[in-house]
Amino acid sequence: MMRLTTLAALLSFSIAARAQKFENLAMTPPMGWNSWNTFAVKIDEKMVMDMADAMVTSGMRDAGYIYLVLDDGWMAMERDAQGNLVPDPQKFPHGIKAVADYVHSKGLKFGLYNCAGTKTCAGYPGTRGCEYQDARNYAAWEIDYLKFDWCSSEGINAREAYATMSKALRKAGRPIIFSLCEWGQNKPWEWAAPIGQLWRTTGDINPLYDGIKRYGNWHANGVMTIVDLQADLARYAGPGHWNDPDMLEVGNGMSQPEDRTHFSMWCMLAAPLISGNDLRKMSPQTTAILTNKEAIAIDQDPLGAQGIRYSTRDSVETWVKPLQNGDWAICFLNRSLNPKNLSFDWGKENIADSLVHSALNVHSTTYSLHDCWQGKNVGSTSAPLAATIPPHDVILLRLKK
Ligand code: GLA
Repeated sequence: MMRLTTLAALLSFSIAARAQKFENLAMTPPMGWNSWNTFAVKIDEKMVMDMADAMVTSGMRDAGYIYLVLDDGWMAMERDAQGNLVPDPQKFPHGIKAVADYVHSKGLKFGLYNCAGTKTCAGYPGTRGCEYQDARNYAAWEIDYLKFDWCSSEGINAREAYATMSKALRKAGRPIIFSLCEWGQNKPWEWAAPIGQLWRTTGDINPLYDGIKRYGNWHANGVMTIVDLQADLARYAGPGHWNDPDMLEVGNGMSQPEDRTHFSMWCMLAAPLISGNDLRKMSPQTTAILTNKEAIAIDQDPLGAQGIRYSTRDSVETWVKPLQNGDWAICFLNRSLNPKNLSFDWGKENIADSLVHSALNVHSTTYSLHDCWQGKNVGSTSAPLAATIPPHDVILLRLKK
């Protein structure tokens, strides 16, 4: 009898050890909206429903932003007597399932946040030790996406903690995108592909073009600071497993060229596009940036290659990204505070991506140059590209065969 029990325990252990994430989720980088960047913990049922409506009326849903994710602050301060997570009764008087139902009724998907540690970053109950129970509740509430943070995680092994939650989600049986938010501290790009669909690569973003912003004992990163930290990570990204340079700050205070740059670079990086602005009162300029179809097509390209930095010349960086049909995306990024004249002679360059064994051969093929922000053709690779890039702005091109 004893031996049978041991055998059963061993068997279930080895099944758990082999359990992997749900496959065929997030085959292109996830797109959606998350509450944190605008609302922090000041979230409630009405705001979520209004935001779901706004995702539809603004055109965001139809542009591909499908996931509405509630970040930190949705829970009550204590679990119930059975150890279940409880939604804050003031903020969510009808519970989370009702909110998820509403979001689903709009043709959207719904996500929640929790944390691998004992408490979330805002001090609500974390999941440590309750992984399977929490996963069962998430599945019962019909959520589609879980962002899993890394506060109060002292003494915890990151890989094990995230693997446990991944297995718990798998066991709960509902396909849920698993978004690791471990800030890149333990190089999740080296181990998280079997565990989740995306992993944060850095600390938090801020609506700041470059540098870092200090808040007491922590700091947040500007967009360019984050871009620099992605440059060596391209080999780790692909369909179903993405580097996540954090949510978007488009519409949250940077200048229009800076917002355009931020969005262009996230598309070049095949980054998840999770907007973080108040969609109920977006300016037409912000809407135009977030819903630019050609930029989004670069991000969502099925090949799933993350762009690489090809050159840096006089403060202008050239980033390149091979696309599935043999097209290429090219982004000229002016990081300086001065306008920069660009003269780019395609015939003298040697653009290639060894990770996907692809090369841009302008000697055998003439590509037309489509400017994604101007929405028009600006020439071909048979002549050098001459243009002026305003300060903190970009030129985003799709080279078409
Ligand atoms: C961390 C995460 C953020 C956000 C907050 C919530 O800082 O990195 O994205 O989820 O916690 O408290």
